Amino acid sequence: MATSVSSSSSLWQKHSILERNSILLLLGILIVIAIGGLVEVVPLFYLKSTIETADGMRPYTPLELAGRNIYVSEGCYLCHSQMIRALRDEVERYGHYSLAAESEYDHPFQWGSKRNGPDLARVGGKYSDDWHRDHLNNPRAVVAGSIMPAYPWLFTTDLDYTHIAEDMKVQALLGVPYNDEMIANAIADLRTQATADAPDADALARRYPKSQARDFAGTPNRVTQADALIAYLQMLGTLVDFKLYDDKANIR
Ligand code: HEC
Repeated sequence: MATSVSSSSSLWQKHSILERNSILLLLGILIVIAIGGLVEVVPLFYLKSTIETADGMRPYTPLELAGRNIYVSEGCYLCHSQMIRALRDEVERYGHYSLAAESEYDHPFQWGSKRNGPDLARVGGKYSDDWHRDHLNNPRAVVAGSIMPAYPWLFTTDLDYTHIAEDMKVQALLGVPYNDEMIANAIADLRTQATADAPDADALARRYPKSQARDFAGTPNRVTQADALIAYLQMLGTLVDFKLYDDKANIR
């Protein structure tokens, strides 16, 4: 017992050498921080192999991308998240928890940080276009006591899509797999998707599987900001077939 006390006190004496020599102390600190830094950084080198891809994910159509731009510019993300956590109450309310791969083509991502309103990651197909029209025009018309602001100008403002091909090129720079054909057809595809019974809907669906084409905002012969935003809302969470994943994860 006595020896162990004396050996530990001699260890402390050695430590006092470090404490009295600032250069040695600095070196010691650097070594410890370097080890800590490596522990944090090294796993990132293997990040690629840890991110799964999800079957069904595809880049946004030009109209959806324009709608997403409106979503960002109107600040919808300030009240809405797009990130369902792997917690039972969230999964029961919103559906399958979000996969990292579902944000694959989101630059910037829309996970949000606050929920004044519900999560929107799987809102696509939950309501009719009519409902979204009424709701965006005046949320109180469909949900009594809603605190969501009204966005009536979306229905009277024409969508400015002159720069949509450039938007797609920037997204491609960031890693979204838009090919030359998609970029060349950007404006045509955008108009097609916002039109009911459009003749080119097949070409659109070939380029963007599961894309839906119709007059989303009920503003015939015009492409309004509401057309783009509702097209975006109606596709959220509809790309990945979660029956495949549910069996694996056995969550529900
Ligand atoms: C000030 C906070 C706030 C902002 C900003 C906001 N919302 Fe909401 N949103 C809410 C609240 C609260 C609800 C729940 C009540 C309701 O349905 O109106 C809601 C509900 C919704 C719903 C229905 C979700 C569901 O599953 O029932 C959609 C869709 C929606 N918002 C879209 C949007 C879009 C698109 C924007 C931007 C144009 C937006 N919100 C901006 C607060 C907000």
